[in-house]
Amino acid sequence: MSDISDVPQQAWWRTAVIYEVYVRSFADGDGDGVGDLAGLRERLPHLRDLGVDAIWLTPFFRSPMVDGGYDVSDYRDVDPSLGSLADFDAMLAAAHALDLRVIIDVVPNHTSSQHAWFTQALQELPGGPARARYHFHPATTDGEPPNDWESVFGGPAWTRTADGEWYLHLFDPAQPDLNWDNPDVRVEFEGVLRFWLDRGVDGFRIDVAHGMVKAAGYPAAGLTGQIGLLGRRVLPYFDQDGVHEIHKAWRKILDSYPGQRMAVAEAWASTPQRLARYTAPDELHQAFNFEFLQADWGDPAAVRASIDSCLHAAGSVGAPATWVLSNHDVRRHVTRLGSLERANAAALLMLALPGSAYLYQGDELGLPEVLDLPADARQDPVWFRSGGTDPGRDGCRVPLPWESEAPAYGFSATGASWLPQPPAWAALARDRSSTVDLYRAALALRRRLTGPLRWHESPDGVLDFARDGFRCIVNLSPEPVALPDGAEVALASRPIDGSTVPADATVWIFARTARSS
Ligand code: NOJ
Repeated sequence: MSDISDVPQQAWWRTAVIYEVYVRSFADGDGDGVGDLAGLRERLPHLRDLGVDAIWLTPFFRSPMVDGGYDVSDYRDVDPSLGSLADFDAMLAAAHALDLRVIIDVVPNHTSSQHAWFTQALQELPGGPARARYHFHPATTDGEPPNDWESVFGGPAWTRTADGEWYLHLFDPAQPDLNWDNPDVRVEFEGVLRFWLDRGVDGFRIDVAHGMVKAAGYPAAGLTGQIGLLGRRVLPYFDQDGVHEIHKAWRKILDSYPGQRMAVAEAWASTPQRLARYTAPDELHQAFNFEFLQADWGDPAAVRASIDSCLHAAGSVGAPATWVLSNHDVRRHVTRLGSLERANAAALLMLALPGSAYLYQGDELGLPEVLDLPADARQDPVWFRSGGTDPGRDGCRVPLPWESEAPAYGFSATGASWLPQPPAWAALARDRSSTVDLYRAALALRRRLTGPLRWHESPDGVLDFARDGFRCIVNLSPEPVALPDGAEVALASRPIDGSTVPADATVWIFARTARSS
């Protein structure tokens, strides 16, 4: 077994495939219907066999779970519903023993309203030092919120306290925003990073990395309908220049540890160029590129343009491009793209691109979004804040099927599941091997893909590019397209019949250079 601290020559995160584990929905070790760290530990061999390099764990810290753990009340402890610090240490050791790196989520833009800092702030008089760690603001003379800023989850971004002051929350009222101009906040989070780095984590996913600093004086945004979860508008509370100072300080901390610790920003910026600033050599290592996720797959030229712009922007600062098709905040891409065939074609394309790719748990099973969750089962604040008009994100968070038997499909030994699993999980679990095998083969072959991407001319609806030793042809047109003469198919997202690539398929081909070498 190689030692994980025995780092490869090339930084691992430049080409890594990182698998997102939404901890509450991955595997339940204690039978209470909620996924947990013990359940994850038991299922780690599945991820090793799949061939991913690392896992990213969504927040497992102490939390009232108003926003699925993105409302943290203690950053240095594990929520009892998900395990204990000892369970975390055991899971981390088991992952490292399997050569899987582990990155964890850090949530620095806001705390839970039940964090000790915030409860102290509420007990204090306006103007006190505990309030200065958050954004408290006096009411306007007519009793209105201090400005027109909107919450990402809907409604105003300000909530009034009993004494008449308002506090800022870009998300739920139970997630008050921290004031990053306050030195207490900076010192506290540097301590949090060190706490987990000392325990051995390989890096962090930084939640709302672009939102931590707000424009001075709280200027009005000047529009309504300001932002959704994946927004690109220029707003006074996002992508402010001051945020880069924080990330530079964090990079120094990461670099002071051995073993190539890394950080990936969840950041939304108005252009790929502005997003690239987060990954300057003295800032974070990666930033999620949501442009590819949002590309219109009905328009292959737009998919190509999104690939080019992201490669170009990341390359301009020497960072790897990142690719994502699904995560715990968006409708699963099997449903978005309309079919498993097209979803697998997209996945094979993504895995052929230079840079680092992120998989979301269940992608490898071909899971669709669960669209018909009953109202009384839903838990997402997006659903509640929209009065039920926005289905929210529960449909991509339904616990995974591991086996075909109901109840719980192997998710939990007792049959419990915190969100109801649909009967379709039985067939998906029974047939899991075909999609899992495709992902496994792609991850294995991907390790042999090197070099930059070079586009070939192609018919409408077809993307065709080469990397050293391989060609990748993606047919998003309704008609089959011919394979090049003498092509030797290395991997295809759908069975290949004769010498054509069927519609909604991606084919990797060994290029001649590879065959002759
Ligand atoms: C982004 C996370 O991915 C999402 O799940 C969460 O609701 C918001 N940030 C707020 O923390």
